[in-house]
Amino acid sequence: LATESEHDVVVIGGGPGGYVAAIKAAQLGLKTACVEKRGALGGTCLNVGCIPSKSLLNNSHMYHQAKHDFEHRGIEVDNVRLNLKQMMAAKDKSVKTLTGGIEILFKQNGVTYVKGTGSIANENEVKVQPLEGGEEVSLKTKNIIIATGSEATPFPGLEIDEKKVVTSTGAIALEEVPKKMVVIGGGIIGLEMGSVWSRLGAEVTVVEFLDAIGGPGMDADMAKSMQKILQKQGMKFKVGTKVLSGDASGEGVKLEIENVKKEKKETLEADVVLVAIGRRPYTEGLGLENVGIEKDDRGRIIIDQEYRTKHPNIRVVGDVTFGAMLAHKAEEEGIAAAEYIKKGYGHVNYGAIPSVMYTHPEAAWVGQTEQEVKKSGKEYVVGTFPFMANSRAKTNLDTDGMVKFIAEKETDRVLGIHIIGAGAGEMIAEGVLAIEYGASSEDIARTSHAHPTLSEAFKEAAMATYDKAIHM
Ligand code: FAD
Ligand code: NAI
Repeated sequence: LATESEHDVVVIGGGPGGYVAAIKAAQLGLKTACVEKRGALGGTCLNVGCIPSKSLLNNSHMYHQAKHDFEHRGIEVDNVRLNLKQMMAAKDKSVKTLTGGIEILFKQNGVTYVKGTGSIANENEVKVQPLEGGEEVSLKTKNIIIATGSEATPFPGLEIDEKKVVTSTGAIALEEVPKKMVVIGGGIIGLEMGSVWSRLGAEVTVVEFLDAIGGPGMDADMAKSMQKILQKQGMKFKVGTKVLSGDASGEGVKLEIENVKKEKKETLEADVVLVAIGRRPYTEGLGLENVGIEKDDRGRIIIDQEYRTKHPNIRVVGDVTFGAMLAHKAEEEGIAAAEYIKKGYGHVNYGAIPSVMYTHPEAAWVGQTEQEVKKSGKEYVVGTFPFMANSRAKTNLDTDGMVKFIAEKETDRVLGIHIIGAGAGEMIAEGVLAIEYGASSEDIARTSHAHPTLSEAFKEAAMATYDKAIHM
């Protein structure tokens, strides 16, 4: 451990923001250490977020297909049964290989991995309480990058035990399929984890305070369409509905809910309640008070455009500060922050950060929603193309969803792209590039897309924006 000599950078937090910042800093020739307290690298995303949830989404989809969708494709499988233990083991294996992989990357790039809880003692010193116990370690450093991430926002009055009342962390590790699950919050976590347990056999009801599902940032047309599709799959929704209180003292959990407009109250009962009402920045024990670093009213550490706090050598990236709580956003910031330290410049285009919801079909979007464009007062045109008219989707017997383009009327510049469809999460990359390069819808429409592919729907939606689609 390099305690004796000074570091150029000490990163606190080993999630997507922190570990990427540490690797980039080391690649730039800076002597770098990364402090992580959970005993594994990869943060929320790899350990209890993106990766385990996607493993369960993929495998629960396969199970559901085998049980309900194979027969009409001419595949007869007898006696399809769920082995939940094995499904969880497959998930744990993916997590383990990926988190272990980051340790290897640290070694390859010369990043010192310090296992323990980091606390800022002063502008140039991070104290670490080692995970294995023992004496506090002092890391002297020229720069500090804070990347301590976020935690689930609790629901007042409902104590989280991660068994009966769970956050996403409990929801990726249930030991049996609940008969009834109620999800508080119809955002991305609610819909992804609700999908998993619904496919595995639970009766899932999602209670959402707003009139639309999907959480902040989802285009209203897409949210409506997604709700219909998930309803068709068996999930139930109570939108415009508030959870007033919860009681987990009995065998199950009772929730008192109220329809906001009608002011009608009812009680919902569940074996498991998933609290998915958002996440909040995590700064516990970080020692911000020792250096007078400030947070806003939502607990986010305040920074400038170069990720600097009031101390120019202390920077902040990822969920613990402003912006979307997404792994790839945290990673971009991690790279930019390291570059600012070494070179004095860095860059993240916040207008071109994609969002993907990994339900089936997936939902993916980039740029502005139609509601945002309307609000901005810009004149715009919309082009859509349904997967129902796409040859590959029809061949795959998987036709739910559509592609929607929004372009500026005068210039045809693409302002937003919204997709619901199998493979939307991969397809959106083309949209991100279009926005990054300032493309027009005609640029995309005149680009050849292979046949038969789902991405032809992307091209045809672009055609429908400045002209007419061919296959509609
Ligand atoms: P984190 O990943 O939270 O990492 C912070 C790390 O810092 C943690 O490991 C923590 O232990 C450590 N730490 C905190 N304080 C200290 C301290 N004082 N000392 C040492 N270590 C400390 N995003 C996507 O883009 N795609 C997805 O598919 C996706 N799926 C998700 C699914 C779920 C269920 C959840 C909960 C989140 C998901 N996210 C997804 C969001 C994503 O996980 C976060 O945006 C991302 O992890 C943020 O990275 P970060 O580095 O800022 O923080
Ligand atoms: P979210 O902000 O996406 O959604 C929370 C939802 O809960 C909102 O729709 C909100 O209106 C609703 N809500 C809030 N209080 C409520 C109440 N009292 N009763 C009923 N509804 C209420 O937050 P979520 O789903 O918890 O996810 C947290 C973060 O994790 C998100 O910001 C997201 O970016 C990230 N994430 C990303 C994923 C991905 O990229 N695929 C997957 C999972 C999480």
